[in-house]
Amino acid sequence: MHVGHPGLVAEIVAEIQASGPITFARFMELALYHPEFGYYTRECEELHENKIGEDRIGWSGDYYTSSDVHPILARAIARQVRQVDELLGRPDPFTVVEMGAGKGLLARDFLAASEKESASFFHRLRYVLVERSPAMRASQRGHLTPWMRTAGRVSWLDGLEELETGSVTGVILSNELVDAFPVHRITIEGGVPKEIFVDYEGGRLCERVQPLSTQALSDYLQRLAQLEITLPEGYKTEINLEALAWMTQVARAVKRGVVITIDYGHTAQDLYGPDRRRGTFLCYHHQMASEAPYERVGLQDMTAHVDFTTLATVGEESGLHVTGFTNQMSFLMGLGVEQLIESLEPGSAEFQSVVQLLKPEGMGRTFKILIQHKGIESPELDGLRFKPFFGSVLAAAERSH
Ligand SMILES: C[S@@+](CC[C@H](N)C(=O)[O-])C[C@H]1O[C@@H](n2cnc3c(N)ncnc32)[C@H](O)[C@@H]1O
Repeated sequence: MHVGHPGLVAEIVAEIQASGPITFARFMELALYHPEFGYYTRECEELHENKIGEDRIGWSGDYYTSSDVHPILARAIARQVRQVDELLGRPDPFTVVEMGAGKGLLARDFLAASEKESASFFHRLRYVLVERSPAMRASQRGHLTPWMRTAGRVSWLDGLEELETGSVTGVILSNELVDAFPVHRITIEGGVPKEIFVDYEGGRLCERVQPLSTQALSDYLQRLAQLEITLPEGYKTEINLEALAWMTQVARAVKRGVVITIDYGHTAQDLYGPDRRRGTFLCYHHQMASEAPYERVGLQDMTAHVDFTTLATVGEESGLHVTGFTNQMSFLMGLGVEQLIESLEPGSAEFQSVVQLLKPEGMGRTFKILIQHKGIESPELDGLRFKPFFGSVLAAAERSH
């Protein structure tokens, strides 16, 4: 068994020995984002500029994202964003904030498409990347060099808190960000919700079930109870409290515009339903999924699916209204992916890549897209033309409004 990065494991063990068992969320925070040794933060192994980050995200890394498959998602988002620009009356500047951009491929393809399709939009466009990992930022710089020659076109922030209140007129965008936030893990024991902590015993990291570490977890379960979701005995799942704090910060930053959140996830009813009694937490290493967080600590990705209902509800409470909720397949179709497919030779590599992003039994339906707005009256967006399902997200959010 590979325990993981020795420096990181030593730090985690030292913290447990100093202050007792830590929450799983704290363990995940250290494993992914420890300033020196975290999976995302530690320096990348490749030295070649354009390969930075490839040891983690990409075909030769631990997992790949839509941006590795084909630029079509970025191009569709660019088209969607230009429609938002029109609805906002072509503000100058028009700001796009992308948070958690990984290697920066979506940003690269978005900027390329925007430059090609509309000079007047591109002229007003400011692209701000919010990234906490220096290694990922280095990779982003490598991919965005062509656009860094124009002062102010592309810039970076370490965290969303650096954005002033109401400073964004435009779009806040993320792809697979929220699933990378550290999650609390809970279980139901004797009819009572308990939390999973990480301890160190007999030379190994192990789990300990203890009372909930914070009232915020009880409040979250209370929200679920209002949706008539109660977790049965033995149920094990995750709660992403950071996602809620993030949503509030996003709402605060937007003056007028749209928030586009892409991730794998579900409505609360699906995520916390009877089919997912073991939760959705997974680790990824060399394109293989496992449920083994105490192996390869700091050397593998960790993720959990997103509860879009609670995200939308908290957004509503902070002034972000739900525009719609769809999946990647419907979003791409609404933005004209069929035209692109028709222009491709069936069976070609490019054709296969685009189909991969659309597949109903794969990325097309696994990935969901939540769009919210503020300061625009009920925008009608092409990406939401096909509304396949999930009325409950809207219903839940609207009830709280
Ligand atoms: C799963 S990767 C997503 C990569 C990319 N968006 C893509 O689709 O290829 C998650 C990214 O979010 C970043 N991240 C996680 N938490 C963050 C935070 N609180 N602030 C800024 N970036 C964060 C990670 O460093 C990483 O770059």
